[in-house]
Amino acid sequence: MRVHRLLLDDFRSYDRADIALSPGFTAFVGPNGAGKTNLLEAIHVLARGESPRAHDDAEMVRWGATMARAAAECVRDDRLARIETLLFSPVQGERRRPRRYLVDGAGKRAEDVLGRIVVVAFFPEDVDLLTEAPSARRRYLDAMIGQVERRHRADTREHQRVVEQRNALLRALRDEQAEPDHQLDFWDGELCRLGAAISLRRMRAVHEIRHPFREAIERWSGEHLVDVAYATPAEGETEAERASSYQRLVEEKREKEMWQGTTLVGPHREDLAVTSSGRDLPSFASRGEQRSVVLALKVAEATWLRERTGTTPVLLLDDVLSELDPERRQRLLDALPSDAQALLTSALPAGLPSRLAEGATVVPVSRERSP
Ligand SMILES: Nc1ncnc2c1ncn2[C@@H]1O[C@H](COP(=O)(O)OP(=O)(O)OP(=O)(O)O)[C@@H](O)[C@H]1O
Ligand SMILES: [Mg+2]
Repeated sequence: MRVHRLLLDDFRSYDRADIALSPGFTAFVGPNGAGKTNLLEAIHVLARGESPRAHDDAEMVRWGATMARAAAECVRDDRLARIETLLFSPVQGERRRPRRYLVDGAGKRAEDVLGRIVVVAFFPEDVDLLTEAPSARRRYLDAMIGQVERRHRADTREHQRVVEQRNALLRALRDEQAEPDHQLDFWDGELCRLGAAISLRRMRAVHEIRHPFREAIERWSGEHLVDVAYATPAEGETEAERASSYQRLVEEKREKEMWQGTTLVGPHREDLAVTSSGRDLPSFASRGEQRSVVLALKVAEATWLRERTGTTPVLLLDDVLSELDPERRQRLLDALPSDAQALLTSALPAGLPSRLAEGATVVPVSRERSP
């Protein structure tokens, strides 16, 4: 698939922008603060509904404005669609308006829009994926799976609600020094049912990206001992088997859970583990090595998404080349699917590897002149 036009109104530093995007590789090149990341951020929000850095929509609305608009015209399976979002910043004294989505001008629910533009993104923040708390890696996996299975997004939301309700009940039982009751049985059932579905999808996804991931690492660094796995105490290859495995774990932890007033079993305690020779990789890898590993995960994700969606994802690669030695830069670019549309940013025109400098469309970005 490809995005062939990006339109912005009052989005971040842009009052207005209308950018035609070529197929193949495009490099946005310009000084720090020119607005390169802002462009990729807009596409990411349209594709996945999340900004890699803004915690609040208001941050993406140009200062002084009350509404931002981002729209992308994209082609998927020879069909053209215009995906659009409106972001609001709160007006004093009024309730903040929720984000809106439109497809071809008609209002839609978020879940009917997200995933239409299939992207794999690398933002500088992603280098920390391996050293961050496990929740960041769970979010990463869930976002990846959510692109192909809508049910997964609904299940993770529902699971979170179940955990909150169950925690409240565990605390209440503890405070009243009461015995586990049928209400707890009910929440146990929900926990195990949803947990099994989520955990199984994650495990399968990690299984499926494992081969392309290891291949990418091996190609880049000759390293064949790096591995990725889904770390879970639950067992079972079917939802029913996994649900009963969770049920057993819940019973084992019953006393501890009652005492701590918190749910200790389920996908909200699991992790994506990257190891090298069986050792936890983030505990010793250099920054550059971590960057390569995260990039290999993303390359594997692109392969996986292409298989699952039947369309080649658009690659958003923000400042991906920095911190990599020239050889790794070249190998990274060689590893990207050649038929993919890739949008890269770089602050250093001289740092562009030859393949990019020759084959890519180079678009200068500056504060004075938007592309
Ligand atoms: N809501 C906003 N309204 C107006 N300007 C904003 C807003 N949010 C960010 N900016 C401006 O956008 C600029 C940052 O843009 P961006 O992050 O895209 O830069 P960049 O080209 O990626 O730079 P770098 O090379 O350092 O990564 C900053 O100068 C910032 O002041
Ligand atoms: Mg940037």
